Amino acid sequence: MIRLPGLIDPHVHVREPGQTHKEDWDTATQSALAGGVTMILAMPNTKPPIFDASTLELALEAAGHKARCDYAQFLGAGPDNADLLPSIAAKAAGLKMYLDSTFGELRLDDMTLWMPHFTNYPKEYPIVLHSESRTMAAGILFAAIYDRPVHIAHVSLKEEILLIKAAKERGIRVTCEVCPHHLFLSKEDILAISQSHPGRGEVRPRLGTKEDVEALWQNLDVVDCFATDHAPHTLEEKDSENPPPGFPGLETLLPLLLTAVDDGRLIIDDIVQKSVVNPRKIFHLPEQPETWIEVDEHVEYEIRAQDEFTRCGWTPFEGWRVKGKVTKVVLRGKTAFEDGKILAESGYGENVRK
Ligand code: NCD
Ligand code: ZN
Repeated sequence: MIRLPGLIDPHVHVREPGQTHKEDWDTATQSALAGGVTMILAMPNTKPPIFDASTLELALEAAGHKARCDYAQFLGAGPDNADLLPSIAAKAAGLKMYLDSTFGELRLDDMTLWMPHFTNYPKEYPIVLHSESRTMAAGILFAAIYDRPVHIAHVSLKEEILLIKAAKERGIRVTCEVCPHHLFLSKEDILAISQSHPGRGEVRPRLGTKEDVEALWQNLDVVDCFATDHAPHTLEEKDSENPPPGFPGLETLLPLLLTAVDDGRLIIDDIVQKSVVNPRKIFHLPEQPETWIEVDEHVEYEIRAQDEFTRCGWTPFEGWRVKGKVTKVVLRGKTAFEDGKILAESGYGENVRK
């Protein structure tokens, strides 16, 4: 048995308000606990998006009643909310800016719309960028010009990780996260994931080539955080004419990482650094007292969607054999998960930005 601190996932799509048929604060936080995650940072591309005081209140109200693990909620950068965000920034995880193709309404194409956010948003909180390839290079240049921290979400390409490495070496305030699906899957796996439903292979950023995946593993020291980008959509939606992009990931994160430890590709301390220490530092998150998880590193089992707590009903890792299982989660002195059962009640989770 290994005991680890509770993991922090800085990138989760909870889907509430607005799309609770995919997931809500209850099922997302159950999924988190079952995965050994005791704190989630929730993305703002909900319906409506979280982009002002009243929509933030909407999300926090639902979270307050339903969340079973600790959390904070991101704000979304829109075309005309840069002036009002600083007054509510202390109540939020940080600011998310969508600069590339995504799910939802929050995309900002014109750079004149980025500028006021880089100027106004308090510099003690990072701006998280969904920005790929050359857009990511533009985002890093903005960090340098406006002298403020940016955090690059879900890095997936060799060119991205190499540029982040070079930017860090030059003292630019950039950090980044990598998702398990970009570390453990490549384009060549899409056929197996799809099962003749091409929508199931859709995720943004798209799965990389084998060379991209290899570059992420080779530059793991440049990666600050592991993040799931848990993006649940139902199977019916994934198999429809117009499939939304996104993979669920909260319950497969740690088993996949522990399997990589067993394979000698990671060490346990990598997991602690990238899933606890660094996210806490980057997002200024409080320590969770009397909080830990226990994993049995010897248990081998098969990943099956039907065993998961997420509402979306599928996983791109269906049938994968993994080694390492979460057996117990203790959150602030209370057993929140044990032997496959959620024990924390709805509403036990705390807003860490309160
Ligand atoms: C995310 C979603 O479904 O909200 N989808 C995805 O493929 N990652 C949106 C996003 O993170 O861009
Ligand atoms: Zn996302």
